[in-house]
Amino acid sequence: LRFPVPVCLNSPRDLTRRLLSTALPDVEIHYAGSATEATPQLERSQIVYGWGFSVDLLRRIWMQKMGAGVDDLAEEWPFGSKVVLTRTDGRLIGTRMVEYVIAAILDKTSRFDVARRLQSERRWEYFEIGSIQDLCIGVAGLGEIGSEIGRVLRDLGADVIGWRRSPVDCSSVRQVFVGFPELHSFVRECDVLILALPLTQETKNLFNAEVLKHCRRGIHLINVGRGAVLDESALLDGCETGRVGHATLDVFALAGYSSVLVAPQITITPHVCGPLIPERIIPHFLRNYAAFETGKQMQHVVDVSRQY
Ligand SMILES: NC(=O)c1ccc[n+]([C@@H]2O[C@H](COP(=O)([O-])OP(=O)(O)OC[C@H]3O[C@@H](n4cnc5c(N)ncnc54)[C@H](OP(=O)(O)O)[C@@H]3O)[C@@H](O)[C@H]2O)c1
Repeated sequence: LRFPVPVCLNSPRDLTRRLLSTALPDVEIHYAGSATEATPQLERSQIVYGWGFSVDLLRRIWMQKMGAGVDDLAEEWPFGSKVVLTRTDGRLIGTRMVEYVIAAILDKTSRFDVARRLQSERRWEYFEIGSIQDLCIGVAGLGEIGSEIGRVLRDLGADVIGWRRSPVDCSSVRQVFVGFPELHSFVRECDVLILALPLTQETKNLFNAEVLKHCRRGIHLINVGRGAVLDESALLDGCETGRVGHATLDVFALAGYSSVLVAPQITITPHVCGPLIPERIIPHFLRNYAAFETGKQMQHVVDVSRQY
């Protein structure tokens, strides 16, 4: 027996609406495009699905974050376990993030920037290019997304190592480094360092001047996790001294925005590497919805005490 639980969803795209209304024809679904618009809708909803809700608006039973990161909610989650917080399965977003990471690495190894510059100067000049197969690539954050990134890079022939919080083996990498005591040894080995970490109290500004000091000179940093994990003033100093060869940032804290924009060693993109594709993520929500309705265990329940 189904009992329809009203859902409130923000910023829906047409396809999202279509997928939801087809799958849940008897459920009252309210849509809102902003927090203000969502407020009256929330009064009538028991489930909230989306992003951009402020925590004080949420007094529902279950909130499913549309997206893998929950730092915006988990930092000050006042409900304990009274309201269940779930997130989107990172593997559903990770395949696109892998493409971005490969593009960022190949952009440097294939030296297309040099090719374009020479072409714009109407010159043909021989230069050597590098290979992913000669690189040691570190993935900080070997979760659902980081493991997928590691697996594909390893298949491409890179020497891949990873860093995570818990001592769990991961077949995507040659070696797993664990926790803060092993962070310096981990970064010391990397030619390329990919940050695929959630933002938590522990990871905020974690990649600071001290950590960068232990990195190989000329390291390529790629941040696809959250901006505030990387201390941007340390990054800018690192770019100036040559400690950092290049940084590709899909996410960054806006504090250093103007400096980041002009630094020639930094490539920025506007948080685009992991799009939320409705056909991939809505079925995940629907599986959780079915579990919720029948009192079964939902997937991707966030441990709010550790903030991810
Ligand atoms: N740029 C984008 O478009 C985009 C899109 C989606 C997601 N993201 C970001 O990517 C993040 C990761 O997503 P996910 O699905 O892979 O999450 P996940 O499966 O929860 O994995 C998180 C990983 O980070 C590790 N970690 C957390 N805190 C740590 C700490 N203090 N020290 C060392 N390792 C730590 C975890 O270690 P354990 O394995 O030991 O727990 C885990 O390996 C999200 O939180 C989000 O911020 C960005």
